[in-house]
Amino acid sequence: MAATDIDKSSNEEKRNLSLGGHVGFDSLPDQLVSKSVAQGFCFNILCVGETGVGKSTLMNTLFNTTFENEEASHYQNGVYLRPKTYDLQESNVHLKLTIVDTVGFGDQINKEQSYKPIVDYIDTQFENYLQEELKIKRALFNCHDTRIHICLYFIAPTGHSLKSLDLVTMKKLDSKVNIIPIIAKADTISKSELHKFKIKIMSELVSNGVQIYQFPTDDEAVTEINASMNAHLPFAVVGSTEEVKVGNKLVRARQYPWGVVQVENESHCDFVKLREMLIRVNMEDLREQTHARHYELYRRCKLEEMGFKDTDPDSQPFSLQETYEAKRKEFMGDLQHKEEEMRQMFVNKVKETEAELKEKERELHDKFEQLKRMHQEEKRKVEEKRRDLEEEMNAFNRRKVAAETLQAQSLQAASQQPLKKDKDKKK
Ligand code: GTP
Ligand code: MG
Repeated sequence: MAATDIDKSSNEEKRNLSLGGHVGFDSLPDQLVSKSVAQGFCFNILCVGETGVGKSTLMNTLFNTTFENEEASHYQNGVYLRPKTYDLQESNVHLKLTIVDTVGFGDQINKEQSYKPIVDYIDTQFENYLQEELKIKRALFNCHDTRIHICLYFIAPTGHSLKSLDLVTMKKLDSKVNIIPIIAKADTISKSELHKFKIKIMSELVSNGVQIYQFPTDDEAVTEINASMNAHLPFAVVGSTEEVKVGNKLVRARQYPWGVVQVENESHCDFVKLREMLIRVNMEDLREQTHARHYELYRRCKLEEMGFKDTDPDSQPFSLQETYEAKRKEFMGDLQHKEEEMRQMFVNKVKETEAELKEKERELHDKFEQLKRMHQEEKRKVEEKRRDLEEEMNAFNRRKVAAETLQAQSLQAASQQPLKKDKDKKK
C-alpha cells in the first residue's frame, strides 16, 4: 500500500508554488562559495617537456613567484617525475598548488619508454583517490587530491613539426589528463614561421587522433572567449623572470640586443592568453573534467577489471552485494582448487621422494651385501694363507730341530776321536 502511494506521488506533476515572503534558500550558492573558500582548493599541473625547454621559467612567470628550481642534467638514465607542493594565497583564497616536473624527458637515446613513468604517475594518483573512495571511513574532503588537472605539454620551437616523442606521449596521455600543448620559447621563432608551425602542429594532432583539451563553450558567460581561444591553440609562450623597464613600468621581459620581448604583451606572445584560460577562466572546468571524465574512466576500467558490473547478462541491475558475493565465491572456488592442486602436488612429491629413498636404500643394501661377501672372501684367503704359513713354520722348525740334532751328534763324534788316538799311542 505504502509503495503504491510513493509510486503514485512520484508520477504526479510537481506543483510550482510562489512564496509569500523571503525564506532564505536563495543564499545557497553563497553558502557553497563560502564553504569552498574556507576549505581551499587544490590544483595540480604536470609540465611535460624536454630538459631546458623552459618549464620552470614559465611556471615562475605564470604564478609571478619563484618556485624552487633544480636544473636537470642531460644524463638521466630514464625519465622521472618530481612533484613539489606549495601553498599559495590570493585575496582570501587558498590554493594548494602542485607542480610536477618531468626530469630527463627526451634525453635518452632510446625514447620508446619515456611516456611510461608519466602515465604511471597519473594512474597512481587516480589509484590513491580510488582507494580513498573505497575505504569504509572516507576522508575525501580533507585528503590531498593529487590527481593531475592539467598537463602543459611543452613543444620545442623547431618550426618544423612535432617529434615522434611528442606525438606518442600525447597520444598515451590524452585519455588520462587534460592536455594543453604550448610552444615554448616562442621568441626564438619568427612570426610567419610561428603561424605555419601552429597550423602544422594542429593538423598533426588531428591526423594522429590526439585529443587535446578544448576550452568549454557550453557556459554562456565564457562561450565567446573560450571559442576564440580554442582557435589559438597551441599557445606560443615566452617565460622570463627578468624585469625590464618599458616606458615607466617594470615588466617581465626578455631583453635582446635588437629589442625587448614582453611576456605580457599579446602582440609578442600568447602568455596572457594561457594565463587567462588556465587560471582565471577554466581552472574549475579543468578540475571538473579531471574528476568527471578522466578519473571516471579510470575508475570504470578498474572496477570492471575487478569484476564489478552495473547489469547482469539479462540487463537486470546488479547489486554491489551480489557482485561481491559472486566474486568471493569465484575466489573461494579458485582458492580451493589451488589448495587441492597443491595438496595433490605435495602428495605426489612425497610419494616420489619415498620411492627414491627406497631405491637408494635397496642400492645401499646391495652394496653392503657385496662388501660383506668381499670381506668374507678376503678373510677366508687370509686365513688360508695364515694356515699355509703356520705349516711352513712348523716344517721349518722340524727341519731346524733335526739339523741341530745332527750337528750335536757330529760334534760329539768329533770330540771322542782324539781321545781314542791318544789311548792308542800310549799302548
Ligand atoms: P629543466 O628543469 O632543467 O629541464 O629545464 P626547464 O625546462 O625548467 O627550463 P628552464 O626554465 O630552467 O630554462 C632553461 C633556459 O631557457 C634558461 O636559460 C631560461 O632563461 C631559458 N628560457 C626559459 N624560457 C625561455 C623563453 O621563453 N625564451 C627563451 N629564449 N629562453 C627561455
Ligand atoms: Mg626546470
